[in-house]
Amino acid sequence: MKNVRTNGQRKRVFIRTYGCQMNVYDSDRMADVLRPLGYALSENPEQADLVILNTCHIREKASEKVYSELGRLRDLKVERRREGGDLAIAVAGCVAQAEGEEIIRRQPAVDIVVGPQAYHRLPELLARVARKSDERRFDGRRWPGAGVLDTEFPAENKFDHLPAPSEADVRAGSAFLSIQEGCDKFCTFCVVPYTRGAEYSRPAMAVLREAHALVAAGAVELTLLGQNVNAYHGEAADGSTWTLARLIRALAEIDGLARIRYMTSHPSDMADDLIAVHGEVPQLMPYLHLPVQSGSDRILEAMNRGHGRDHYRRLVDRLRGVCPDIALSSDFIVGFPGESDADFEDTMRLVDEVGFASAFSFKYSRRPGTPGAALGDQLADGIKTARLAALQSLLGRQQRDFNASKVGATVPVLFTEAGRKPGQMLGKSPWLQSVYVEGGAEMIGSIVNVRLLAAYALSLAGEVVTDQLPSRFEAAA
Ligand code: 5AD
Ligand code: SF4
Repeated sequence: MKNVRTNGQRKRVFIRTYGCQMNVYDSDRMADVLRPLGYALSENPEQADLVILNTCHIREKASEKVYSELGRLRDLKVERRREGGDLAIAVAGCVAQAEGEEIIRRQPAVDIVVGPQAYHRLPELLARVARKSDERRFDGRRWPGAGVLDTEFPAENKFDHLPAPSEADVRAGSAFLSIQEGCDKFCTFCVVPYTRGAEYSRPAMAVLREAHALVAAGAVELTLLGQNVNAYHGEAADGSTWTLARLIRALAEIDGLARIRYMTSHPSDMADDLIAVHGEVPQLMPYLHLPVQSGSDRILEAMNRGHGRDHYRRLVDRLRGVCPDIALSSDFIVGFPGESDADFEDTMRLVDEVGFASAFSFKYSRRPGTPGAALGDQLADGIKTARLAALQSLLGRQQRDFNASKVGATVPVLFTEAGRKPGQMLGKSPWLQSVYVEGGAEMIGSIVNVRLLAAYALSLAGEVVTDQLPSRFEAAA
């Protein structure tokens, strides 16, 4: 089949998303922007007229993957043009923001480079590419490299120009809602303040409107997103400023919204009122992703984290004081420049003392332009590998123990998809564990009570029950 689409035929866009949940949300918004232009979603690049790579720049590996994917897309584009068709290639996300023009230099087949603050301008960028199609004629050897670029931080706010969310933005009863973007913390290892820009909170009423629309479209669970989500300070209708805690209380009033989550948080912004809502709002799930990065005060200082290990320990104690079953999750970086054996042991001890339900851990990756990249005493990869293995083995044991501690309990599970085996469904517990049961596709998007029967490293198995639940889950059940 020729991939030529003439007027009147539907066009297709394939969006590949790398990295964090902010990018998942952004990819959905890009699909929303393109829908009125006639673009339906494609399952693969082969059947698409437009491919968007929504990229991640957080670690070196994540950004290198983009260039190899672009090489494959170039080949596809060459083939398409040979057949008389075309393929537009766009790079969005944090690599687009960080590398800009360099992307087109390294891969001239790229048509559009668009930064995270300019997604509402995609239709205009596509129109510019269409106008330039003559200049971009491929002679079979060399691309003319006249791709268009938009990596500005525009004065207008993209959220005001993106279409309202629709049913397409709700997947199996769950939806993401971006409430905050950017970061002013400047941790010395991190590219986010440069790629996503300064901290910005969406107005509270805009968030509430979007939440109502998502619930009306079938969402029973909302995950509030932001690079620094607990720094949220959104303007309210009366001119006052709402904290994240205030916003969560307002969201909890929405009929039909059974589950609220938020990520990612910074320990320095874990305010008293936010800790309190964990004990008071039953819809707020007993789970918190609170990255600590390291357990060594010396390394935390070098990372410019703005908090020490004791502060983190105290936060954990207070959270457990108001919500004893809260599942804690974290991010860790091993092998930050100058990290000694003793520093790493401090991290292992902190993990031991806190006990995490799940965690992500990474080897330090030197990111150009960040202060960490310029530090002396960069560690050998072998040291990072060994430390990562030790840390992951401890965290893995903790995750298994946490899963095992829930066996025998009856808990509400939000079913999201079919499991790998026939007749099996997969859902999420309140603590964000994967739970498998026997069941049918009609369960997708609903919250069903499940008795947990067996625990594994990354999941639990259970059976559907109709018994009454313990009272704290009644609202969600
Ligand atoms: N190297 C390794 N890990 C990093 N992260 C952020 N920047 C780097 C880096 N340069 C990790 C942090 C952060 C998570 C999203 O990615 O742990 O919390
Ligand atoms: Fe990056 Fe630190 Fe900001 Fe998190 S708080 S996004 S790690 S700079």
